[in-house]
Amino acid sequence: MNTGLDGIVAAVTNLSQVDGEAGRLIIRGHDIEALAARFDFADTAALLWQGLAPGSTDRPADGAAIRRDLGLARQRAADRLPYLLPAVQGLSAIEGLRAGLAMLRDDDCDHLLLCAAVPVFTAALWRQSRGQRSIAPNPGMGQAEDFLTMLTGQAADQTAARALETYLVTVADHGLNASTFTARVVASTRAGMVSAVVAALCALKGPLHGGAPGPVLDMLDEIGDPAGIEPWLDRQFAAGERLMGFGHRVYRTRDPRADVLKGVVASLRGGPNRIALAESVERAVLNRLAERYPDRRLDTNVEFYTALALEAAGLPRQLFTLAFAMGRVLGWTAHVFEQEQTGRIIRPASRYTGPAPEGRLLAAVAG
Ligand code: ACO
Repeated sequence: MNTGLDGIVAAVTNLSQVDGEAGRLIIRGHDIEALAARFDFADTAALLWQGLAPGSTDRPADGAAIRRDLGLARQRAADRLPYLLPAVQGLSAIEGLRAGLAMLRDDDCDHLLLCAAVPVFTAALWRQSRGQRSIAPNPGMGQAEDFLTMLTGQAADQTAARALETYLVTVADHGLNASTFTARVVASTRAGMVSAVVAALCALKGPLHGGAPGPVLDMLDEIGDPAGIEPWLDRQFAAGERLMGFGHRVYRTRDPRADVLKGVVASLRGGPNRIALAESVERAVLNRLAERYPDRRLDTNVEFYTALALEAAGLPRQLFTLAFAMGRVLGWTAHVFEQEQTGRIIRPASRYTGPAPEGRLLAAVAG
């Protein structure tokens, strides 16, 4: 039985297409490489919400207007901090974000506020965990620059801000991945945008999905230098551990986002040094995975170079999954709109293998 739903088409979408054989990702008619080179977060939001968000049309939307609206929404999100911060003392950053989004009211929240709340809450949660006061957002800045400024309390390095903005665009949408599917399931019940996004964040948090990049850095730190690679891999395989940043349900070749992010890392201070060790680790891991799984092509996924890009942009590893959410929340909101407009309630079947009332096993599919 296909318990992982491999290859099952569960939604019709005009948002993004993942071609796993060719290693190609298309977002509304743009290859990811071109999108990441030319679009910022607001332009990408305009593209993904085009014809779906209330008031939008089928014509290409104006990134400048969305940039302004997102800036104002970050201020609205900051108004929630006095209620959020006292309630989440002692929680981890991702738990705090989950709680913060869940505290947003259905009747007082829209897609802009959700996209703004992720960076505003993340920065404030991190600063609170370090005993620091939160920094007010600057609505005139782009999403990444404002986030870095709110996080550090200092003017953001422009190269780092551009790198983070490119990262947010690169991960904004990716077909029916686990978190986006979750968002669509919740949206299909008409539970609303806030519930769908909270549920999606819960799915993203797992180490097999968006929780991988922090452990990627742990792996590089544990390995230390090229001489440590093979002994480390021996230990991981002996313990039956999965190697974070490798393998993908859909890609049978290199994830195209990995190369976009590798370019981002190369542009950042300290990045090139990290790349040298990372490339050696990558080669060794791919060789070992190919030996072990000759019939299953397992390649580098987006999370491997995400870890290096976010580290070089100055983010602490505890915030990597939250940074992923900062980009992917765009895709979640667009898919919620699309599901609400075009989809039916998502309700698959299951196969019952428990006892029948008469004591016999049933193999029938339960509706
Ligand atoms: N390290 C070691 N072994 C692996 C890895 C890995 N990274 N990935 C797959 N395998 C193994 C599986 O255990 C399986 O072996 P088995 O048959 O002996 O049980 C075999 O390869 C085939 O696995 P798949 O069917 O290709 O894996 P699946 O599609 O179920 O899972 C997943 C995909 C979850 C991404 C997996 O490759 C994995 O766990 N990778 C590590 C975590 C990671 O990097 N997650 C981020 C993914 S990208 C994203 O979500 C944004």
